[in-house]
Amino acid sequence: MGILEVKNVNKRFGGLQALGNVNLSIAENTVHAIIGPNGAGKSTLLNCLVGKLIPDTGSVMFDGQSVLGRKPYEINQMGISRVFQTPEIFGDLTVMENMLIPCFAKRDGAFSLHAIGSVASEKDVFEKAKQMLSDMKLYDKREMHASSMSRGDKRRLEIAMCLSQEPRLLLLDEPTAGMARADTNNTIDLLKQIKEERDITIAIIEHDMHVVFSLAERITVLAQGTPLVEDTPDNIKGHPKVKEAYLGETQTV
Ligand SMILES: Nc1ncnc2c1ncn2[C@@H]1O[C@H](COP(=O)(O)OP(=O)(O)OP(=O)(O)O)[C@@H](O)[C@H]1O
Ligand SMILES: [Mg+2]
Repeated sequence: MGILEVKNVNKRFGGLQALGNVNLSIAENTVHAIIGPNGAGKSTLLNCLVGKLIPDTGSVMFDGQSVLGRKPYEINQMGISRVFQTPEIFGDLTVMENMLIPCFAKRDGAFSLHAIGSVASEKDVFEKAKQMLSDMKLYDKREMHASSMSRGDKRRLEIAMCLSQEPRLLLLDEPTAGMARADTNNTIDLLKQIKEERDITIAIIEHDMHVVFSLAERITVLAQGTPLVEDTPDNIKGHPKVKEAYLGETQTV
């Protein structure tokens, strides 16, 4: 039994079957990658796991409890944090102000911008926010407006915001998209370090196979809304089903 159990999940958008009978089990304390060509349904699946989309049928259980029907912040409180494909930070706030949102949310048990004003003098929360920014090599940019950050820096800020909530399950949708290779490698190292230091399960959606094979212990290949194969990285390399999934695309593994 995995920490996350997805059973028979279907999701249609009008006439399009974006997810068709998806079954997925993610084991606790592993890094599980979900790969597949553009439009395979990867983000749709992730969005169904965090309350952003509601599947038409099927079940999604986290640690024995259903996430379906719960609000995104409730799912967050259950111990699931996520980085969406499109950065969801507050552009008019500074990097530090963005960082303070989940730090206070963790302490106060709710997402609330208001919380910043009411408890801004709390030293421990600031210290934690500072530490997370330093870990992500963003501390020098703490006064910058988030809207003026590079895409790669925005992604790193989002990862830091998620980690500050000390999730048990971290869901990352293309966390290194738009990053230069050096930043991608820093992010890989950071995720490895976090994995060593904490009890955390990571599900990562990625097109960059360097990231996938650096981090993943299990890989699920999704194509046209359905898992084609799930296996270890060694067995996925050169697997005929992977070639089938990517047929016609330049990506090879
Ligand atoms: N809100 C929506 N309304 C209608 N169709 C959608 C919606 N969201 C996604 N789709 C469609 O569902 C399919 C799966 O999309 P999804 O974004 O999950 O793919 P993906 O695997 O994440 O792709 P990518 O690698 O490009 O991010 C695509 O055909 C997409 O156009
Ligand atoms: Mg996507």
